[in-house]
Amino acid sequence: MAGLKRLEYRGYDSAGVAVLADGGLAAAKKAGKLVNLEKELVEWPLPAGATGIGHTRWATHGGPTDGNAHPHLDNAGRVAVVHNGIIENFAVLRTELAERGHELTSETDTEVVAHLLAEEFSATADLAEAMRLVCRRLEGAFTLVAVHADEPDVVVGARRNSPLVVGVGEGEAFLASDVAAFIAHTRSAVELGQDQVVELRRDGVTVTGFDGRPAEVRSYHVDWDASAAEKGGYDYFMLKEIAEQPKAVADTLLGRIDPAGSLTLDEVRISPSELREIDKVVIVACGTAFHAGLIAKYAIEHWTRIPCEVELASEFRYRDPILDSRSLVIAISQSGETMDTLMALRHAREQGSKVLAICNTNGSTIPRESDAVLYTHAGPEVAVASTKAFLTQLVACYLVALYLGQVRGTKWGDEIQAVIKDLSRISEEVERVLETMEPVRALARTLAEKDTVLFLGRHVGYPVALEGALKLKELAYMHAEGFAAGELKHGPIALIEEDVPVVVVVPSPRGRSVLHDKIVSNIQEIRARGARTIVIAEEGDEAVVPYADHLIRIPATPTLLQPLVATVPLQVFACELATARGNEVDQPRNLAKSVTVE
Ligand code: G6P
Repeated sequence: MAGLKRLEYRGYDSAGVAVLADGGLAAAKKAGKLVNLEKELVEWPLPAGATGIGHTRWATHGGPTDGNAHPHLDNAGRVAVVHNGIIENFAVLRTELAERGHELTSETDTEVVAHLLAEEFSATADLAEAMRLVCRRLEGAFTLVAVHADEPDVVVGARRNSPLVVGVGEGEAFLASDVAAFIAHTRSAVELGQDQVVELRRDGVTVTGFDGRPAEVRSYHVDWDASAAEKGGYDYFMLKEIAEQPKAVADTLLGRIDPAGSLTLDEVRISPSELREIDKVVIVACGTAFHAGLIAKYAIEHWTRIPCEVELASEFRYRDPILDSRSLVIAISQSGETMDTLMALRHAREQGSKVLAICNTNGSTIPRESDAVLYTHAGPEVAVASTKAFLTQLVACYLVALYLGQVRGTKWGDEIQAVIKDLSRISEEVERVLETMEPVRALARTLAEKDTVLFLGRHVGYPVALEGALKLKELAYMHAEGFAAGELKHGPIALIEEDVPVVVVVPSPRGRSVLHDKIVSNIQEIRARGARTIVIAEEGDEAVVPYADHLIRIPATPTLLQPLVATVPLQVFACELATARGNEVDQPRNLAKSVTVE
């Protein structure tokens, strides 16, 4: 149960456990969050056993009911299985099983596996062999973990395109989607490759391919400890993670900028000569990471003059994108497991492009399958709504953009040197923003009854507006939309009515002041139509004062770096509004932090 608690971020529609005890198999499962299962187990305890499996679910096939919760058992109740992913040919398998007399009771794709395992086990009396035989018949992406009452000292796991890691302790062993589940017991982990089956016994692990051939076992040490994944006195992980941003940002920069202002990105194992050949950058990502990509485009094109496209990973490969060996594809992902992003990067590599991952999770699938990786070092992010991962993704994107500029010698002048200096100091600016958030919280509480909040921005402020709106949708379940401020007049302005809150991210009046002046006009246009304006503007920007119903100050930064400070108030705003509306901040409804299906 403690392990499942750590994995609840992956899904929390329902949960279940099964233990092997007294020669049999006992299982319990419950719709809703893990706490429902906990209560059930207090009332109806399972017999004590030393071998067991458990699952928290994010529903794909079949609603979040008790019956659809995992584990799934065969009809004799001897085998239990839990599954992440989607078994695409489950309908055919289900029909075949029904024809052979099996009774399937749930609406899930998973249940077929329990029945297939039972059949193969009765033929082989070997759960690992049964698993290999079954996996060869499955299509799709899956992590499977199973136990059988007739082989009580063994847990068998299998993976294809979906994560599974092994923890090796003393006289005990663990399997989980993420090391967080067993970090309290061991920091010694083993990576599983694609299409592998692992047998877990008290005294060690054996890994084979789906074809039965022994596989090489690669061990690694997990370099963060359990306390990094604790709330540390905060009410929610999200609050803790927002507060950790200055340190997270500093950690992303650590050791990557030398005192003379030049960049060292040793991990980027794509040679300078290859980087000089690049004629296009394509960024793929999902959700919040996609917004980091949108901002990166401004920096990459401005600092390096290389054309840069940004695309939602889920759309990318299906439109037959134009890629070749001179394209650099950057895959941004906090978890490193998002299936849409993984599939996009595989497509890019098939076309001969180099792939650079920007990732927060050591040893996860996306960096493993990329040509190079720049880790963000934000530490574990537990809250579903991404905060510190986003800021550190931005920093990593800036580093990549600057590094490309350095290697290619483009535009490498005073402006870049100044930006590098500002970037090295940015963590203090983020800290300063955090110190002034009380009025933002107070404002959020007054808006708890509203139905709609709109967000406007120009230039890099536009993706910031999109991110502000996404946070509010995810957490407060409100209608929230982000627009490019200049586009407002071409349609969305029709949404403005009396007292609708509109958050405007104002670019710096210094530097590109034309942008600033344009947005000041946009603020006046919406205010004239009755909007309640919430203006995020740089300290010392007096031009916005007459038009701001509420003014949120952020430190002055170079235009391209402004998202690092402008996003923070929007995170705090969404978190407080969600709390005021009585929503669960860390686990918003219907979401999962790491989505390992397409
Ligand atoms: C899910 C989460 C989002 C996240 C996105 C990308 O949809 O709910 O918050 O931004 O996945 O996740 P990644 O781990 O690839 O950054």
